[in-house]
Amino acid sequence: MPVDTVLRNARVVVRGRIVEAGLAIDEGRVFRIAKKTNLPQASKKIDLKGNVILPGLIDSHVHLRNKRLAYKEDFYSGTAAAAAGGVTLVIDMPNNKPVTMDSISLRERMKLAEKRAVVNVAFYSAFPQNLKEISSIVKEGAVAFKLYMSKQIGGLDISDYGLLLRAFNTVAEKEVPVAVHAEDRRILESERRKMEKTGHKDVETYAKARPPEAEAQSIRQIAQLAKKSRVAIHFCHVSSKIGLNAFLAAKKDGLNVTCEVTPHHLLLHLKHLKTHKTLAITNPPLRKNKDVVSLWSALNQGFIDTIASDHAPHTIEEKEVESIWEVKPGIPGLETTLPLLLNEVSKGRLPIADLIKLTSEKPASIFNLKNRGSLVEGNWADIAVVDLKRKYKINSSNFHSKAKYSPFDRWIVKGKVTKTFVEGRIVMDDDEIVAKPGTSQTIRRMRMNHQ
Ligand code: NCD
Ligand code: ZN
Ligand code: ZN
Ligand code: ZN
Repeated sequence: MPVDTVLRNARVVVRGRIVEAGLAIDEGRVFRIAKKTNLPQASKKIDLKGNVILPGLIDSHVHLRNKRLAYKEDFYSGTAAAAAGGVTLVIDMPNNKPVTMDSISLRERMKLAEKRAVVNVAFYSAFPQNLKEISSIVKEGAVAFKLYMSKQIGGLDISDYGLLLRAFNTVAEKEVPVAVHAEDRRILESERRKMEKTGHKDVETYAKARPPEAEAQSIRQIAQLAKKSRVAIHFCHVSSKIGLNAFLAAKKDGLNVTCEVTPHHLLLHLKHLKTHKTLAITNPPLRKNKDVVSLWSALNQGFIDTIASDHAPHTIEEKEVESIWEVKPGIPGLETTLPLLLNEVSKGRLPIADLIKLTSEKPASIFNLKNRGSLVEGNWADIAVVDLKRKYKINSSNFHSKAKYSPFDRWIVKGKVTKTFVEGRIVMDDDEIVAKPGTSQTIRRMRMNHQ
């Protein structure tokens, strides 16, 4: 019996080295990776022309919006952007209208996504006001909780540490991780008041109103609660040197903590904020060059767990408003993450094995996404095919996302995503989305045995 598909004339990454091999797919799963002569017969053969097969990216920080925010992004446009960027699974953030914070809103999002998505989608939930509802949210299949410390999103009063600790204890028991936006609300509020009084209206004033200390302070606080509850904490978009140090201290302390950085915090700093103005406003803000240097040093030493896009689409009108205090923060990133990182690979700044670990393997293990994140036999055939030699200019007007702008616009990068497969089905081919809406699935958290 022939297998379904063979990707031939390709290269794969084996123990950090790129070697010639093909990949056989059967019933959506990796059947075999082997040299040409050891590949099975297949109903369909696809010639990859020497391109490299990578595990599809698992982007654990994506705002797909939809519903009342569908004018910014919806399940189709957002997952089409993912497919275009070699991302085969996104984890959707809960800061929606309405906020994802109970089993009903969660189930509704899952259903809508199943009708429209072209890559797989898993979901975060915010914390409900009544902690008893955590159980039903977990049963419904949320893979993690998301906690914003910069302002309250969801039902949990973030100024009540006793309550936070109880919430952490409850999810720790269920072995569900908590992703945290760590910026201390009180520091943000007082700095903002100070900055508003100065009357300054430049974008750097926005950055000054969200100092690195707000990040570090919040990380330290969450770490204390993590220590008491043993919950697994994943710190989102760590952006500063002192924030990073606070995280590393918690790790050294033996806590169950991991951290994420974004491509924009790795590749942009205050200079870019000045050039791109409000378009480059995001939370946490772009930092000083010394912060960027410390992120890279931590990355190269293996201290960073994941790279995620924090794909946060808004309309161009929302980005280009006069007052810096009214600008909607966020940068669309699904379509630039992999090309930008491949460009760093081409410059020798990021070993390709590290790229795979940061964007596929680690997210799969942190969020308990079984049989994904690496291309071993039996795992789902979630694949990004890339041409490492192809140079091209990033053009945000061609984005599949509704957010057609980027601080990376017109950057020339070496490394292009040419095809994306989700569970063995081709979903993107040469920038074209070839999957029908609704052909992908919702990935629910696996039930643990003792629940
Ligand atoms: C995000 C958004 O727009 O939803 N914005 C951002 O600046 N990153 C929210 C967030 O991730 O904090
Ligand atoms: Zn955030
Ligand atoms: Zn975000
Ligand atoms: Zn620029």
